[in-house]
Amino acid sequence: MAALSGKVAIVTGASNGIGRAIAERFAEDGAIVVVNHSKSPEKAQQVVIGIQAKGGKAVAFQADMSRVSEARRLVRETAKQFGRLDILVNNAGRFMPKPLAETTEEDFDQVVALNAKGPYFAMQEAALVLKDGGRIVNISTDGTHLSFPGATAYLGSKGALEQYTRGLAQELAPRKITVNTVSPGFTETGMITDQYRQIGIQMSPLKRLGTPKDIADVVAFIVSDEARWITGQNVHAGGGIVM
Ligand SMILES: NC(=O)c1ccc[n+]([C@@H]2O[C@H](COP(=O)([O-])OP(=O)(O)OC[C@H]3O[C@@H](n4cnc5c(N)ncnc54)[C@H](OP(=O)(O)O)[C@@H]3O)[C@@H](O)[C@H]2O)c1
Repeated sequence: MAALSGKVAIVTGASNGIGRAIAERFAEDGAIVVVNHSKSPEKAQQVVIGIQAKGGKAVAFQADMSRVSEARRLVRETAKQFGRLDILVNNAGRFMPKPLAETTEEDFDQVVALNAKGPYFAMQEAALVLKDGGRIVNISTDGTHLSFPGATAYLGSKGALEQYTRGLAQELAPRKITVNTVSPGFTETGMITDQYRQIGIQMSPLKRLGTPKDIADVVAFIVSDEARWITGQNVHAGGGIVM
């Protein structure tokens, strides 16, 4: 039997990049996957069609994860539609490479809303419906450990998400729900500029950028039964970038 057979998983920001690869991998592993997006219905539908073409099960779901009411709706309606929820992956995120002097209050609020506040309340809603033994995975970044210059507000929002992981792993442990962070390094997606591509290749001892599949395979392990003893951790999937 496939590892995630019979399970229902939400992947936020799954119309592209890392989220898409996670959704595709979960479907290969037998899960019913809810492919969340905020403004790319065609891309989300392509992901769904691709999964279905391989015999998997998926639906697209529009919800802006920077809005608490939308984050709650995504979780609530998924549980209602499929009668259960087993896995939540908070992947949707916004990169903001701006130094202190250029960061506006609006920039700050937006990055915190999507990278920290939305995921927090998605987890609060998910805690109401997740099956015992369920899984939450928060996608952060290796950058929080590098003190990478010029993206402090972004890294701070991801740092908050990492702290939520540690705290909620404690709170949800009585129900055998694990909560972990997976932190990608530089990964080849639409988020990567030429400048970051060069820096990423140079910094990894493996001398290449990560692929979305590199990250998805790690997340697939974390949500599997084999990872039942891992909770509250930050798993670095960054190609060995020195921290
Ligand atoms: N790529 C990297 O090098 C890297 C490194 C470290 C960490 N990460 C983290 O990995 C995660 C995924 O990044 P990525 O590189 O795969 O990004 P990406 O290729 O730009 O994809 C972003 C995804 O998030 C969705 N999204 C954006 N705003 C959203 C919102 N408000 N609500 C719901 N969905 C939203 C997008 O869909 P729509 O177009 O529909 O909005 C898209 O599906 C992020 O949390 C990022 O911080 C990435």
